[in-house]
Formats: sequence, C-alpha cells, structure tokens
Amino acid sequence: MKPENVVLSDDGKSVVIIDQTQLPNRTVHLSLSVPEDFYSAIYELKVRGAPAIGICAGMGLYVIANSFGDTDEELFLSKMHNVSVYINSSRPTAVNLKHALDRVENAAYINRGNGTEAMLSAMKSECIAIQDEDIEMCRAISEYGLTLVKDGDGILTHCNAGPLATSCYGTGLGTLLLGKEKGYTFHAFTDETRPLLQGARLTAYELDKAGIDVTLICDNMASIVMKQGKINACFVGCDRVAANGDTANKIGTSGVAVLAKHYGVPFYVFCPSSTIDTNCKTGADIVIEEREPDEIKTKFYTEPMAPASVKCYNPSFDVTDAELITAIVTERGICRYPYTESLAELFKDIR
Ligand code: MRU
Repeated sequence: MKPENVVLSDDGKSVVIIDQTQLPNRTVHLSLSVPEDFYSAIYELKVRGAPAIGICAGMGLYVIANSFGDTDEELFLSKMHNVSVYINSSRPTAVNLKHALDRVENAAYINRGNGTEAMLSAMKSECIAIQDEDIEMCRAISEYGLTLVKDGDGILTHCNAGPLATSCYGTGLGTLLLGKEKGYTFHAFTDETRPLLQGARLTAYELDKAGIDVTLICDNMASIVMKQGKINACFVGCDRVAANGDTANKIGTSGVAVLAKHYGVPFYVFCPSSTIDTNCKTGADIVIEEREPDEIKTKFYTEPMAPASVKCYNPSFDVTDAELITAIVTERGICRYPYTESLAELFKDIR
C-alpha cells in the first residue's frame, strides 16, 4: 500500500498532494515546487494533519534544495536552512513539521565535506524514510487500537486522523480501517469539527469510502450520543504530545474528553512517536495556532453568519489534560497515566 495524499515526483522536482480543501466534492491534485507553494499549501490546509504536514515539508525541503543548481556547500546549507525556517513558520502547533524539517536538514549537514550531490541524495533518502516510517507506525498503532475495542462498538471521532492526514491507515481512524479489513463492524459517530469541518468533509468521506458505518453529528451532539450509550470509545489523533501526556489536537478535542470522563467512556489518543515533544514538559508549553475570524463568520456560508464588526476568537487547537486521557496508543505500545513515566519508559531513546 502506498500513500496517495503526499507523493514525491519521480524526478524529485515536485511534491504532488491531494488538495484536502476540495474534498469531498472533488479530488484535485496539486504540484508543489517552490517555497511559497509549500508554505501556502500547509497554511491553507490543502495538506493537513500533523504527520502529512511533516512528510510534505520534508519532501519540500529536498525538492527546493534540488533546484539550487551548482553551488558551494556552505551557500547550499544556508539557503536550505532559510527555506526550512520559512516553511516551519506556516503552522506552529504540529511538532511533526519541525521534526521532519530538522531530520531532512540534518541529513545534509552530516554530509558536509562530501559535496552537494551527496547532501541531496541523503536528503532524498531521509524524506522518503519519514514517510515509510509513518506507514509502519500507522499500521502498528492500528493493531494496538484493535486490542482496545470489540466488534460492534460505537466510536466517536473528532477532526480527521485518517489516511489523508497521515500515511495509509491513519492513526485515529486506523483501528476502524484495519478492523474493517479484519471483519469487524464498527459504528462511527463523527463530529463535524467546526469551523473547518475536517470531520464532515474528510473523516466521513474516508470512512464511508471504506464501507464503514458512519453517522455525522454536529460537535454539540457529542454529549447526547454518549448519554444515549451509543459510544464505547472516543478516538482522536494529536498534533503535539507533551512529556506529561498533555495533548494538543483539533479545537474541541478537550471538550470531548471532558464529556467522555463524565459519561465513563474511554478516551484514546493515537500518537506516532513523531508527535511526542519531550521539549514540552506540559501542555502549557505548546503554542496554539490562532486563525482568521472569517473561518467562523463566513467560510462555507452563502451569506455572512455574524455581523462583520463582531470579534472572533479562533484557536485552531486545544490541549487535553493528561488526566482525561484513558490511554495514548503509540507504535510501540499503549501508555497509561501517569504519562511522564509511561511515555519516558517506552521512548527512552527519542528526543
Ligand atoms: O488543523 P488540522 O486539520 O491540520 O488539524 C489536524 C488535527 O488536529 C489532527 O487530529 C491531528 O493532526 C492528527 S492527524 C493524525
């Protein structure tokens, strides 16, 4: 199985993405090749989801460096670093972006003295490795996820953590997709995920396409479906997990976790190691992206839905307190609270 959402072209001159803003109505491919293409595709959520952003940015750095032409090593490295800083500034919350850019940059640095051709070759291998590792991680996370649920369960999802946001199975949706292949029947209840509707546009689309029973609900209906006993577990992805397990994910995630605690429903975070940031001790260290008011007031409406003069507060993510998370499901296994110990034990060897 090969990811279709982010693809490095055979000639290494572009990265081809599926424009996620056009789904579910149209499948449009975009070819990205210059720094501004990558910045705007990431900022505008044409490519989105923490792992996919990282993969696209890492491949982008290689593609752009590949266009520098004949140049000396130091100039090559400094131009590449400037591009990396620029692309990294497109979105602040998902750590995968910085993580992937650093890996691809480092691949060039460790080849200092070997010439720019060697640097480029190492950068190419590294960005392909990031995607290959993500495929493996998604599969392993999905296998672990299946040990937490049973056939027939109702699963509430928030935002989109499926193949579009990752590689192949996805993280938060991987258990459902792998389960379907293995003959499980799940009933997904998918939060539409205001204001950008990743749940309605992308999760409902991906699950429906895979033949999984999916029911779309507005975000403010999560409580009623939990109270009615329709939900056996909540599944979400993540954009940055602090060392203590506090988890930044799409705005509204922490509200789902609070409701889940109230109704006694397990709340699971699906997290590849590329999303763990041990430099953040707690969620208080995580930068939360704020976006334009028009995403709330006008986007998707035929007429504005609020007075033009009214103020909006549009944080794109929130942090779910570690205490509210039943388990963090990683590619190496399932961590339980307290996460400072369980994550450190499982990932002794990472940043
Ligand atoms: O703003 P987005 O759509 O990039 O936000 C994405 C999410 O919050 C996802 O849940 C997260 O990146 C995990 S993707 C596996």
